[in-house]
Amino acid sequence: MISQKHLFQLPDDVHYLNGAYMSPLLLSVEEAGIEGMRRKRNPAIIDPIDFFTQAESLRQDFATLIGGDAQNVAILPSASYGLMSATSNLPKNNGQYALVVAEEFPSGYYAIDRWCREQGKTLKIISPPEDKSQRARKWNQLLLEAINYETAVVLISSVHWTDGSIFDLKAIGERCKACDTCFIVDGTQSVGAMPINVNDCHIDALVCAGYKWLLGPYNIGLAYYSTRFANGRPIEESWMNRSEAEDFQSLTAYRTAYTPGAGRYNMGEFSSFIHAPMLQTAIRQILKWTPQGIQGHCQSLTAPLLDFLASKGCLVEENEFRSNHMFGFRLPEHVDAVALMTCIKAKQIFVSRRGTAIRVSTHVYNTREDMDTLMEVMDDFFQA
Ligand SMILES: Cc1ncc(COP(=O)(O)O)c(C=O)c1O
Repeated sequence: MISQKHLFQLPDDVHYLNGAYMSPLLLSVEEAGIEGMRRKRNPAIIDPIDFFTQAESLRQDFATLIGGDAQNVAILPSASYGLMSATSNLPKNNGQYALVVAEEFPSGYYAIDRWCREQGKTLKIISPPEDKSQRARKWNQLLLEAINYETAVVLISSVHWTDGSIFDLKAIGERCKACDTCFIVDGTQSVGAMPINVNDCHIDALVCAGYKWLLGPYNIGLAYYSTRFANGRPIEESWMNRSEAEDFQSLTAYRTAYTPGAGRYNMGEFSSFIHAPMLQTAIRQILKWTPQGIQGHCQSLTAPLLDFLASKGCLVEENEFRSNHMFGFRLPEHVDAVALMTCIKAKQIFVSRRGTAIRVSTHVYNTREDMDTLMEVMDDFFQA
């Protein structure tokens, strides 16, 4: 794939290597948002059925992206909301332990920590090995070994948000299935940029904020909930999630039944007339590029950077266990990370420092020039 920078509006002098923080907006997504805003100039053109139809097709497009069924998809305001829906509906009698990995993103950590406190369960944190070689591979092994019949739930991110370490969702999902352990995945840092299939990985809940790799606006996300959650209790009671909600005239004929599938976990006002069309436009573009295509583009862009980092003694996970669209590198101990970050920023290069890693994220809007500029700055810094 050639660079798709022309479909975005990033300023020419900005080298944006920070999609893991927030994606830039596709022109088409911006247009969809403006169109959504314009429609409210004249509410007479918004029919009651419009509250539901666009949301339905957004759920379908996300389902296509993750290999699931639209009925199992819910529209959310944030990852924390979707993770809370999942942890609020965990079975209570399938084990004493919840597992997370060290430095899990706080939206997931706080949700599972609350569940453990309220249910009298024990939270186990699986730390990476001290040994730096094959760190992520060994970390995966430690996690797999920790899952047993006493494990009620595993909550992890698909790739670690600080450095892009990959968790082998298929192997973990299989182990969870064998132990009747509920498997909750925060897909925010990979879904859209990396292939995933919820059925192959036996995932019970997959929750994604929309403003990173789904290329959507801030404040809308999507989740998949397997049939394990089909009879759960949503964290709010929106009128829109009850059966026959389309019949506006009879809304006070209060219904006990929720809409089938995961519809009960939709946020209130899920029609989100500005944000939903934006997110849908973005997902449709991703489906055209394909997550494999995006990984391929990022892989070819970052190959020279990986050689460069190795030549400077920086540590990066082995290829098989880190994503191509984002990864962290760890500097040799004597190198001042704060000073390096200052030099990088001075050249209008945007990366993030997370935990002990400097995180570089790329996408189809990045070019060879972005990578060359980063390497030039780092080279000058190392030689100074
Ligand atoms: C792994 C992960 N999950 C979730 C989020 C965002 O969470 P929320 O939507 O709850 O703000 C981030 C943001 O950096 C993240 O890295």
